[in-house]
Amino acid sequence: MSDKPNILLRKARAEDKDDVIWVESLSTPSLSYVQHVWDMFFNDKKGDWSVDLLDGKIMGCGKYSILPDGSAWLETLRVVPQAQGNGLGKRLYEHWLKLSEEKGVKAMRMYTGVNNVVSAGLARRYGLSLAQTFHGTKMAAPKFESDSTFENIHDVDEATKLLIPLGEKWGGWMVMNRTYYKWSPELCKWLTENGMVYRDADGNMVVMGARFMKDYQLHIGLFDGDITKCLDFAKADASKRNVSIHCLYPDHLTEIEEALTGYGFNKESSPFIVMEILF
Ligand SMILES: CC(C)(COP(=O)(O)OP(=O)(O)OC[C@H]1O[C@@H](n2cnc3c(N)ncnc32)[C@H](O)[C@@H]1OP(=O)(O)O)[C@@H](O)C(=O)NCCC(=O)NCCS
Repeated sequence: MSDKPNILLRKARAEDKDDVIWVESLSTPSLSYVQHVWDMFFNDKKGDWSVDLLDGKIMGCGKYSILPDGSAWLETLRVVPQAQGNGLGKRLYEHWLKLSEEKGVKAMRMYTGVNNVVSAGLARRYGLSLAQTFHGTKMAAPKFESDSTFENIHDVDEATKLLIPLGEKWGGWMVMNRTYYKWSPELCKWLTENGMVYRDADGNMVVMGARFMKDYQLHIGLFDGDITKCLDFAKADASKRNVSIHCLYPDHLTEIEEALTGYGFNKESSPFIVMEILF
Protein backbone atom coordinates (compact mmCIF):
# COMPACT_ATOMS: atom_id res chain seq x y z
CA MET A 1 0.00 0.00 0.00
CA SER A 2 1.19 3.54 -0.82
CA ASP A 3 1.68 6.20 1.89
CA LYS A 4 0.82 8.91 -0.61
CA PRO A 5 -2.06 11.06 0.75
CA ASN A 6 -5.34 10.41 -1.03
CA ILE A 7 -6.19 13.94 -2.24
CA LEU A 8 -9.08 14.89 -4.49
CA LEU A 9 -9.68 18.41 -5.69
CA ARG A 10 -13.10 19.25 -7.11
CA LYS A 11 -15.45 22.18 -7.57
CA ALA A 12 -17.42 23.15 -4.48
CA ARG A 13 -21.02 21.92 -4.45
CA ALA A 14 -24.02 23.53 -2.73
CA GLU A 15 -24.05 20.81 -0.09
CA ASP A 16 -20.38 21.53 0.85
CA LYS A 17 -21.21 24.84 2.53
CA ASP A 18 -21.24 23.63 6.15
CA ASP A 19 -18.07 21.59 5.64
CA VAL A 20 -16.24 24.58 4.20
CA ILE A 21 -17.43 26.79 7.06
CA TRP A 22 -16.06 24.11 9.39
CA VAL A 23 -12.72 24.13 7.52
CA GLU A 24 -12.50 27.90 7.89
CA SER A 25 -13.45 27.84 11.58
CA LEU A 26 -10.44 25.62 12.31
CA SER A 27 -7.88 27.01 9.86
CA THR A 28 -8.48 30.76 10.41
CA PRO A 29 -10.44 30.96 13.68
CA SER A 30 -10.11 34.75 13.86
CA LEU A 31 -11.14 35.39 10.24
CA SER A 32 -14.49 33.88 9.26
CA TYR A 33 -16.43 35.13 6.28
CA VAL A 34 -17.22 32.09 4.09
CA GLN A 35 -20.84 32.04 5.23
CA HIS A 36 -21.23 35.62 3.94
CA VAL A 37 -19.53 35.10 0.57
CA TRP A 38 -20.66 31.55 -0.16
CA ASP A 39 -23.31 32.52 -2.72
CA MET A 40 -21.02 35.01 -4.43
CA PHE A 41 -18.18 32.46 -4.62
CA PHE A 42 -20.47 29.61 -5.61
CA ASN A 43 -22.13 31.58 -8.42
CA ASP A 44 -18.91 33.04 -9.80
CA LYS A 45 -18.77 31.75 -13.35
CA LYS A 46 -15.50 33.48 -14.30
CA GLY A 47 -13.53 32.15 -11.35
CA ASP A 48 -13.28 28.89 -9.47
CA TRP A 49 -14.29 27.76 -5.99
CA SER A 50 -12.84 24.38 -5.16
CA VAL A 51 -12.53 22.05 -2.21
CA ASP A 52 -9.77 19.60 -1.31
CA LEU A 53 -10.74 16.19 0.03
CA LEU A 54 -8.32 14.07 2.02
CA ASP A 55 -9.40 10.43 2.25
CA GLY A 56 -12.87 11.46 1.09
CA LYS A 57 -13.43 14.26 3.64
CA ILE A 58 -13.37 18.00 2.86
CA MET A 59 -10.27 19.40 4.56
CA GLY A 60 -9.43 22.44 2.45
CA CYS A 61 -10.79 25.10 0.13
CA GLY A 62 -9.58 27.87 -2.14
CA LYS A 63 -11.06 30.57 -4.32
CA TYR A 64 -9.71 31.82 -7.65
CA SER A 65 -11.29 35.12 -8.63
CA ILE A 66 -10.88 37.26 -11.72
CA LEU A 67 -10.59 40.95 -10.86
CA PRO A 68 -11.84 43.73 -13.17
CA ASP A 69 -8.40 44.09 -14.82
CA GLY A 70 -8.40 40.38 -15.76
CA SER A 71 -5.81 39.39 -13.16
CA ALA A 72 -6.41 36.43 -10.85
CA TRP A 73 -6.86 36.88 -7.12
CA LEU A 74 -6.18 33.83 -4.94
CA GLU A 75 -8.17 33.90 -1.72
CA THR A 76 -9.77 31.96 1.09
CA LEU A 77 -7.08 29.27 0.98
CA ARG A 78 -7.76 27.15 4.04
CA VAL A 79 -6.61 23.70 5.18
CA VAL A 80 -7.65 22.36 8.59
CA PRO A 81 -4.63 22.06 10.92
CA GLN A 82 -4.82 18.24 11.16
CA ALA A 83 -4.56 17.94 7.36
CA GLN A 84 -1.83 20.51 6.80
CA GLY A 85 1.47 19.41 5.28
CA ASN A 86 -0.15 16.75 3.09
CA GLY A 87 -0.09 18.72 -0.14
CA LEU A 88 -3.65 20.08 -0.18
CA GLY A 89 -2.45 23.67 -0.53
CA LYS A 90 -0.03 22.65 -3.27
CA ARG A 91 -2.85 20.90 -5.15
CA LEU A 92 -4.82 24.16 -5.17
CA TYR A 93 -1.85 26.18 -6.44
CA GLU A 94 -1.27 23.66 -9.24
CA HIS A 95 -4.96 23.96 -10.16
CA TRP A 96 -4.74 27.77 -10.14
CA LEU A 97 -1.64 27.83 -12.34
CA LYS A 98 -3.41 25.59 -14.83
CA LEU A 99 -6.51 27.79 -14.77
CA SER A 100 -4.38 30.88 -15.44
CA GLU A 101 -2.75 29.18 -18.40
CA GLU A 102 -6.13 28.08 -19.81
CA LYS A 103 -7.67 31.52 -19.34
CA GLY A 104 -4.64 33.45 -20.58
CA VAL A 105 -4.46 35.33 -17.29
CA LYS A 106 -1.44 37.65 -17.14
CA ALA A 107 -1.02 38.03 -13.36
CA MET A 108 -1.90 36.03 -10.26
CA ARG A 109 -1.79 37.59 -6.79
CA MET A 110 -2.53 36.71 -3.17
CA TYR A 111 -2.03 38.31 0.24
CA THR A 112 -1.09 37.02 3.62
CA GLY A 113 0.02 38.29 7.01
CA VAL A 114 3.70 39.23 7.15
CA ASN A 115 4.29 36.47 9.74
CA ASN A 116 2.53 33.69 7.80
CA VAL A 117 5.69 31.90 6.62
CA VAL A 118 3.83 28.80 5.39
CA SER A 119 1.42 30.74 3.20
CA ALA A 120 4.24 32.88 1.80
CA GLY A 121 6.53 29.85 1.36
CA LEU A 122 3.80 28.00 -0.51
CA ALA A 123 3.25 30.98 -2.82
CA ARG A 124 7.01 31.32 -3.38
CA ARG A 125 7.22 27.63 -4.25
CA TYR A 126 4.94 28.36 -7.20
CA GLY A 127 6.88 31.37 -8.41
CA LEU A 128 5.11 34.22 -6.63
CA SER A 129 7.29 36.94 -5.15
CA LEU A 130 6.75 39.95 -2.95
CA ALA A 131 4.95 42.76 -4.76
CA GLN A 132 4.14 45.13 -1.89
CA THR A 133 3.84 45.38 1.87
CA PHE A 134 0.78 47.11 3.34
CA HIS A 135 -0.32 48.61 6.61
CA GLY A 136 -3.93 48.67 7.69
CA THR A 137 -6.00 51.03 9.80
CA LYS A 138 -9.50 50.69 11.14
CA MET A 139 -12.18 52.46 13.13
CA ALA A 140 -14.97 50.75 15.05
CA ALA A 141 -18.50 51.62 13.90
CA PRO A 142 -18.68 55.35 14.70
CA LYS A 143 -21.55 57.59 15.78
CA PHE A 144 -21.23 60.70 13.65
CA GLU A 145 -23.11 63.10 11.43
CA SER A 146 -21.74 65.37 8.75
CA ASP A 147 -23.19 67.92 6.36
CA SER A 148 -20.67 67.08 3.62
CA THR A 149 -21.93 67.24 0.07
CA PHE A 150 -20.19 64.40 -1.71
CA GLU A 151 -21.99 62.88 -4.66
CA ASN A 152 -21.39 59.87 -6.86
CA ILE A 153 -19.59 60.30 -10.15
CA HIS A 154 -21.54 58.26 -12.71
CA ASP A 155 -19.49 59.00 -15.81
CA VAL A 156 -16.83 56.31 -16.25
CA ASP A 157 -14.53 58.44 -18.44
CA GLU A 158 -14.67 61.37 -16.04
CA ALA A 159 -14.00 59.11 -13.04
CA THR A 160 -11.13 57.34 -14.82
CA LYS A 161 -9.44 60.62 -15.73
CA LEU A 162 -9.60 61.75 -12.12
CA LEU A 163 -8.72 58.43 -10.48
CA ILE A 164 -5.73 57.19 -12.49
CA PRO A 165 -3.34 59.95 -11.24
CA LEU A 166 -4.72 59.59 -7.71
CA GLY A 167 -4.13 55.85 -7.88
CA GLU A 168 -0.47 56.60 -8.60
CA LYS A 169 -0.34 58.79 -5.49
CA TRP A 170 -1.64 55.76 -3.57
CA GLY A 171 1.23 53.63 -4.83
CA GLY A 172 -0.78 52.00 -7.61
CA TRP A 173 -2.92 49.90 -5.24
CA MET A 174 -6.45 49.96 -3.86
CA VAL A 175 -7.69 47.67 -1.11
CA MET A 176 -11.24 46.56 -0.29
CA ASN A 177 -12.12 43.56 1.87
CA ARG A 178 -8.43 42.68 1.83
CA THR A 179 -8.59 42.31 -1.93
CA TYR A 180 -5.61 44.18 -3.30
CA TYR A 181 -6.39 45.73 -6.68
CA LYS A 182 -3.91 47.41 -9.01
CA TRP A 183 -5.27 50.72 -10.29
CA SER A 184 -6.34 50.45 -13.94
CA PRO A 185 -9.03 51.89 -16.23
CA GLU A 186 -10.98 48.63 -15.75
CA LEU A 187 -10.92 49.10 -11.98
CA CYS A 188 -12.10 52.71 -12.38
CA LYS A 189 -15.01 51.48 -14.52
CA TRP A 190 -15.95 48.81 -11.97
CA LEU A 191 -15.81 51.29 -9.07
CA THR A 192 -17.87 53.87 -10.95
CA GLU A 193 -20.51 51.38 -12.06
CA ASN A 194 -20.78 50.10 -8.52
CA GLY A 195 -21.34 53.59 -7.09
CA MET A 196 -18.09 53.80 -5.13
CA VAL A 197 -16.57 57.01 -6.56
CA TYR A 198 -17.51 60.26 -4.81
CA ARG A 199 -16.56 63.92 -5.22
CA ASP A 200 -17.72 67.14 -3.57
CA ALA A 201 -18.14 70.62 -5.05
CA ASP A 202 -14.56 71.54 -4.04
CA GLY A 203 -13.09 68.56 -5.93
CA ASN A 204 -12.33 66.44 -2.86
CA MET A 205 -12.52 62.78 -3.75
CA VAL A 206 -13.28 59.55 -1.93
CA VAL A 207 -13.47 56.00 -3.23
CA MET A 208 -15.29 53.82 -0.75
CA GLY A 209 -17.56 50.81 -0.55
CA ALA A 210 -17.10 47.07 -0.30
CA ARG A 211 -16.48 44.12 -2.58
CA PHE A 212 -18.68 42.02 -0.29
CA MET A 213 -20.20 42.08 3.21
CA LYS A 214 -21.47 45.63 2.68
CA ASP A 215 -23.58 45.36 5.84
CA TYR A 216 -20.50 44.75 7.97
CA GLN A 217 -17.67 46.97 6.77
CA LEU A 218 -16.92 50.12 4.83
CA HIS A 219 -13.62 50.21 2.95
CA ILE A 220 -11.90 53.41 1.92
CA GLY A 221 -9.99 52.74 -1.28
CA LEU A 222 -8.64 56.24 -1.72
CA PHE A 223 -9.15 59.83 -0.62
CA ASP A 224 -7.69 63.05 -1.92
CA GLY A 225 -8.05 66.72 -1.05
CA ASP A 226 -9.31 68.00 2.29
CA ILE A 227 -8.59 65.02 4.53
CA THR A 228 -11.08 65.97 7.25
CA LYS A 229 -13.90 66.51 4.76
CA CYS A 230 -13.14 63.20 3.02
CA LEU A 231 -12.92 61.17 6.21
CA ASP A 232 -15.94 62.93 7.75
CA PHE A 233 -17.93 61.79 4.74
CA ALA A 234 -16.79 58.18 5.16
CA LYS A 235 -17.38 58.30 8.91
CA ALA A 236 -20.92 59.65 8.52
CA ASP A 237 -21.72 56.92 6.00
CA ALA A 238 -20.33 54.24 8.32
CA SER A 239 -22.33 55.73 11.21
CA LYS A 240 -25.57 55.62 9.20
CA ARG A 241 -24.99 51.97 8.38
CA ASN A 242 -23.43 51.03 11.73
CA VAL A 243 -20.33 49.44 10.17
CA SER A 244 -16.61 49.63 10.88
CA ILE A 245 -14.25 51.49 8.51
CA HIS A 246 -11.05 50.05 7.04
CA CYS A 247 -8.29 51.58 4.98
CA LEU A 248 -5.07 49.89 3.81
CA TYR A 249 -2.16 51.48 1.95
CA PRO A 250 1.39 50.59 0.83
CA ASP A 251 3.78 50.75 3.78
CA HIS A 252 5.95 53.58 2.42
CA LEU A 253 3.03 56.03 2.21
CA THR A 254 3.56 57.57 5.64
CA GLU A 255 1.56 60.70 4.76
CA ILE A 256 -1.55 58.55 4.26
CA GLU A 257 -0.90 56.75 7.50
CA GLU A 258 -0.46 60.03 9.37
CA ALA A 259 -3.68 61.38 7.87
CA LEU A 260 -5.61 58.31 9.00
CA THR A 261 -4.13 57.93 12.48
CA GLY A 262 -4.27 61.71 12.99
CA TYR A 263 -7.99 61.54 12.23
CA GLY A 264 -8.57 58.76 14.76
CA PHE A 265 -8.03 55.49 12.88
CA ASN A 266 -6.13 52.75 14.72
CA LYS A 267 -3.21 51.08 13.00
CA GLU A 268 -3.38 47.29 12.73
CA SER A 269 -0.64 45.58 14.69
CA SER A 270 0.93 43.61 11.86
CA PRO A 271 1.51 44.36 8.15
CA PHE A 272 0.25 42.34 5.19
CA ILE A 273 2.14 41.30 2.08
CA VAL A 274 0.92 40.85 -1.47
CA MET A 275 2.77 38.33 -3.62
CA GLU A 276 2.42 37.98 -7.37
CA ILE A 277 3.47 36.08 -10.45
CA LEU A 278 3.33 37.71 -13.87
CA PHE A 279 3.02 35.49 -16.95
C1 LIG B 1 -1.18 27.88 4.21
C2 LIG B 1 -1.91 26.54 4.13
C3 LIG B 1 -3.13 26.72 3.24
C4 LIG B 1 -0.96 25.51 3.50
O1 LIG B 1 -1.68 24.35 3.21
P1 LIG B 1 -1.05 22.88 3.32
O2 LIG B 1 -2.02 21.94 2.74
O3 LIG B 1 -0.60 22.63 4.70
O4 LIG B 1 0.22 23.04 2.39
P2 LIG B 1 0.93 21.89 1.56
O5 LIG B 1 1.16 20.70 2.42
O6 LIG B 1 0.23 21.67 0.29
O7 LIG B 1 2.28 22.63 1.18
C5 LIG B 1 3.23 22.92 2.09
C6 LIG B 1 4.24 23.83 1.42
O8 LIG B 1 4.25 25.09 2.12
C7 LIG B 1 5.58 25.57 2.17
N1 LIG B 1 6.00 25.63 3.57
C8 LIG B 1 5.57 24.86 4.60
N2 LIG B 1 6.19 25.24 5.74
C9 LIG B 1 7.00 26.25 5.42
C10 LIG B 1 7.90 27.06 6.17
N3 LIG B 1 8.06 26.91 7.47
N4 LIG B 1 8.57 28.04 5.50
C11 LIG B 1 8.41 28.22 4.18
N5 LIG B 1 7.58 27.47 3.42
C12 LIG B 1 6.88 26.50 4.04
C13 LIG B 1 6.44 24.60 1.40
O9 LIG B 1 6.50 25.06 0.06
C14 LIG B 1 5.64 23.32 1.47
O10 LIG B 1 5.84 22.48 0.38
P3 LIG B 1 7.21 21.60 0.26
O11 LIG B 1 7.54 21.13 1.62
O12 LIG B 1 6.89 20.52 -0.70
O13 LIG B 1 8.19 22.58 -0.31
C15 LIG B 1 -2.33 26.02 5.52
O14 LIG B 1 -1.20 26.01 6.34
C16 LIG B 1 -3.42 26.83 6.19
O15 LIG B 1 -4.61 26.65 5.94
N6 LIG B 1 -3.04 27.77 7.06
C17 LIG B 1 -3.99 28.60 7.77
C18 LIG B 1 -4.73 29.52 6.84
C19 LIG B 1 -3.84 30.36 5.99
O16 LIG B 1 -2.79 30.79 6.42
N7 LIG B 1 -4.24 30.58 4.72
C20 LIG B 1 -3.42 31.26 3.74
C21 LIG B 1 -3.66 32.64 3.43
S1 LIG B 1 -4.36 33.69 4.65
